[in-house]
Amino acid sequence: MQIKIFPNETELALTAADIFEETITKKPNAVLGLATGASPVLTYKELIRRCKAGVISFADVITFNLDEYCDLPRADKNSYYTFMQENLFGHIDIKPENVHIEDGNAADFEAECKAYDAQIAAAGYIDLQLLGIGTNGHIGFNEPGDAFTDGTFRIRLSESTIKANSRYFTDSKMPEYALTMGVGSIMKAKKILLIATGSAKADAIYNTVNGPVSPHCPASVLQTHPDAILLLDEAAAARL
Ligand code: F6R
Repeated sequence: MQIKIFPNETELALTAADIFEETITKKPNAVLGLATGASPVLTYKELIRRCKAGVISFADVITFNLDEYCDLPRADKNSYYTFMQENLFGHIDIKPENVHIEDGNAADFEAECKAYDAQIAAAGYIDLQLLGIGTNGHIGFNEPGDAFTDGTFRIRLSESTIKANSRYFTDSKMPEYALTMGVGSIMKAKKILLIATGSAKADAIYNTVNGPVSPHCPASVLQTHPDAILLLDEAAAARL
């Protein structure tokens, strides 16, 4: 696991964008795994800037998002579908048919999860997977538990995740379930980039780097990935 520590989020985002640029330049039809939440926002801003400046193109890029809430309309302001449109897809030259996000409203969620895994496999698996990390060490919505998960599945969100994300649900109830890629799906990515900023992530980062590889801190599995890079600010790296 490679660890890079930055004095501020802007420099961190520039390095993250450089890694995306390198991947897309080498392979214009790269398969990207994408995250939502606060952590990737500045990186997405920089990718939009580079796309508008003609430095990179997403015209042949294929994307798979990590997760989506269940029982929340796609058009809801808090859906990850809306998040991705507003923070990335709506501002770059990606083809809508190349964008994949789980359908959290699927009547048969097991079939939806299986189909999602099949689409990832058919695309040749993920070249570059972007991750944030929960304060409890979750990646995607793989919450701490007794076993590492495998493919895409439906999860009941933990109390800590509901507490952390309910700040966005000011006029509606936060969903309790989500569909998420499993740890197995994430680990199949050729390269993994995890972004963490702020002191609230310091314990999770300590456990990710120095703890045992354990499903009680799902991100610790990255210790066993051949090409995982952690991009941290000083606050998130404070306990290392
Ligand atoms: C989001 C996701 C989550 C977040 C994590 C951190 O698609 O999969 O694992 O990356 O909850 O969220 P932020 O970045 O908002 O602190």
